[in-house]
Amino acid sequence: MTTTAKATGKATSTVITNIGSLVTNDPSLSATGGGSRDPLGLIPGAAAVVIDGDRVAWVGDARKAPATDNRLDAGGRALLPGFVDSHSHLLFAGDRGAEFAARMSGRPYTAGGIRTTVAATRAATDADIAATLTRFLGEALRQGTTTQETKSGYGLTVHDEARALEIAARHTDEVTYLGAHVVAPEFAGDPAGYVALVTGAMLDACAPHARWVDVFCERGAFDGDQARAVLTAGMSRGLTPRVHANQLGHGPGVQLAVELGAASADHCTHLTDADVDALASAADTTVATLLPGAEFSTRARYPDARRLLDAGAAVALSTDCNPGSSFTTSMPFCVAVAVRDMGMTPDEAVHAATHGGARALRRQDIGRIAPGARADLLLLDAPSHVHLAYRPGVPLAAAVWKDGVLRE
Ligand code: NIG
Ligand code: FE
Repeated sequence: MTTTAKATGKATSTVITNIGSLVTNDPSLSATGGGSRDPLGLIPGAAAVVIDGDRVAWVGDARKAPATDNRLDAGGRALLPGFVDSHSHLLFAGDRGAEFAARMSGRPYTAGGIRTTVAATRAATDADIAATLTRFLGEALRQGTTTQETKSGYGLTVHDEARALEIAARHTDEVTYLGAHVVAPEFAGDPAGYVALVTGAMLDACAPHARWVDVFCERGAFDGDQARAVLTAGMSRGLTPRVHANQLGHGPGVQLAVELGAASADHCTHLTDADVDALASAADTTVATLLPGAEFSTRARYPDARRLLDAGAAVALSTDCNPGSSFTTSMPFCVAVAVRDMGMTPDEAVHAATHGGARALRRQDIGRIAPGARADLLLLDAPSHVHLAYRPGVPLAAAVWKDGVLRE
């Protein structure tokens, strides 16, 4: 990349010119004249973007770009909003590679493996947990993820859940309380007692560090009534709900998410027609967040993104990064799988991995490249965003800006 001086590590005004193809996710900026037919708001050539401080200041025809401190030649490569990964579990210790290998020789995935990570996480120091988190945040950033949600759920005591969220809140605004991941081993014969803890003392300790409340609503974890109790308790403390729903089988998770106005129903692998209809009619409120890394790593069938999109649901793609069911931080990988195996076009998958994630986090300031948006940008070593699926497994992130600062 050719640039004039002082581009790295400092937020001043910069014009990025010679962009081969620009994904804005703002239909009004689309080269085709805008409208909902082009949700990517694609400008195929000759566009420029001006960054001023931590924001995008200007987008348009490069010949009309205003004067700036720095100039950066994108060399005809594609620029898109940084990925918004709205679902991950990065507050853990330990490794479950052996469990993965066993699955690949035929064992099924069950929620029970979560307890293995709980034991390792409880035994870890705060510094261990923080180091794991920062390692994976860095790994994700290098692949173009500029916003990362992450959850607790591997502590399952008041102390271990609260310390995990406190650590997370030092690194991201998008922190989710998932005390209701599975019933803690100490409460094996007393799930009601564990729900009372999650909705009582544990919530008291965790709510100050979190923005969201989540529950694993699934056979083997929490049923519909328990999930409702967890989510409504969180809501009464100012947290907004999101739900692990319909991952391993049919169940009440999606309907509960829609009924409570959750920001997202995540997984959505096993859906009835009524679930799809509910998500479609709640498209302005509840995003169906699809997590193909989980189906990849559990050798399960992928969610049907086409069915959801055709029905009118809002769809996001995220990694679900965790040591059990989906140990990837790679949003490009998720985009590639979604295109290859979930019926999404490259445009739809890239939109879902950027703008979709922003909607799932109820953020207007990210997931798009338009004046006023945060300058969270990904320059690809490719002429178009299509290459994210066309060239699977290839590290295509040439440069990443977060808050206007060139990070990678
Ligand atoms: O989203 N489904 C629940 N939680 C994680 C899996 C966690 C684990 O297996 O450790 C998920 O897939
Ligand atoms: Fe998850």
